Amino acid sequence: MADERTAVHLLYENPDWLPPVIAGLEAEGFRAVPWEVWRGVVDPAEAPPAGLWWNRMSPSAHTRGHGDGVAMMREVLAWLDAHGATVINGARAFGFEVSKLQQDLVLRRHGILTPRTVLAVGREALLGAARRFEGPILVKHNQGGKGLGIALFQDHRELEARLDTAWDPDPNGQVVVQQYIQPAEPFITRVELLGGRFLFAMRSATTGGFELCPSDVCQAEKKQPDVCPADGAATFSPSPLTADDPLVKRFEALCQAEGLDLAGIEFVEGADGRRYTYDINANTNYNAALGRQIGVDGMREAARWIRRTLAAR
Ligand SMILES: Nc1ncnc2c1ncn2[C@@H]1O[C@H](COP(=O)(O)OP(=O)(O)O)[C@@H](O)[C@H]1O
Ligand SMILES: [Mg+2]
Repeated sequence: MADERTAVHLLYENPDWLPPVIAGLEAEGFRAVPWEVWRGVVDPAEAPPAGLWWNRMSPSAHTRGHGDGVAMMREVLAWLDAHGATVINGARAFGFEVSKLQQDLVLRRHGILTPRTVLAVGREALLGAARRFEGPILVKHNQGGKGLGIALFQDHRELEARLDTAWDPDPNGQVVVQQYIQPAEPFITRVELLGGRFLFAMRSATTGGFELCPSDVCQAEKKQPDVCPADGAATFSPSPLTADDPLVKRFEALCQAEGLDLAGIEFVEGADGRRYTYDINANTNYNAALGRQIGVDGMREAARWIRRTLAAR
């Protein structure tokens, strides 16, 4: 007998991130169909198979030997678009996912405070960009993800002295120089949004460096416990932030206006008491231990949202 469940095609590159997504979808009665996007063919004359599509392409694909994934994803999204397919986190969302510069632009457009950010291509340009800043600066990959290429310099002079270390561009030869915001307290806040609505917020401790990917796979790679409520030294912990916070309202408006169906948006509170937003993750992964602690199964909620809104169409 034919399988009558609605298919959700998962456009992916990292197989390790699939299990929680598939579990959430199947629990809500969907058929999850992994669709590899780092090699393969795209035939414009061929209509995509029936069902919904979910963009799970990671901006750090090149670190897993999938250096062609991001560019191929753009082609796949164009094909799906042309055939009128429904895509979760489609082309517009993907544009933000792979560019910290474009994240900055869209955050600013929505009246959200960001750390000053400047894109640079080329070693000389990096120096020139750094000289636009007074105090401490971070250099990051423009196509970031999991803390790629992030280095801290006390000022542009230190960057100049260490230019060989500083110049470590992303796969497109791009970096951003960004104002470093010394956190008032040793954590950043990550707000998870689903369908343009607040889902939950969490804190990530900044004491362990710049790699704050919440996925369980990343924790296993780092070999450190993610949530350890007993000794208070948790990497991830619940945040008291709620849906009626004015910054959350702006995040919601941004997601609704800009096609970000699923997003994890990060901000840091500086010593000046202001909250600076610096990262939009469209390919969000939820931390299972934190989810159990707060009673939210992120991928299950995502699947419920898909069932309520998209599958109903
Ligand atoms: N401007 C900044 N000031 C202070 N800390 C920052 C800033 N930008 C990033 N960080 C720290 O570095 C981490 C990784 O940076 P992020 O921009 O989120 O990169 P990625 O996209 O690789 O996750 C952040 O979660 C935060 O702890
Ligand atoms: Mg981040």
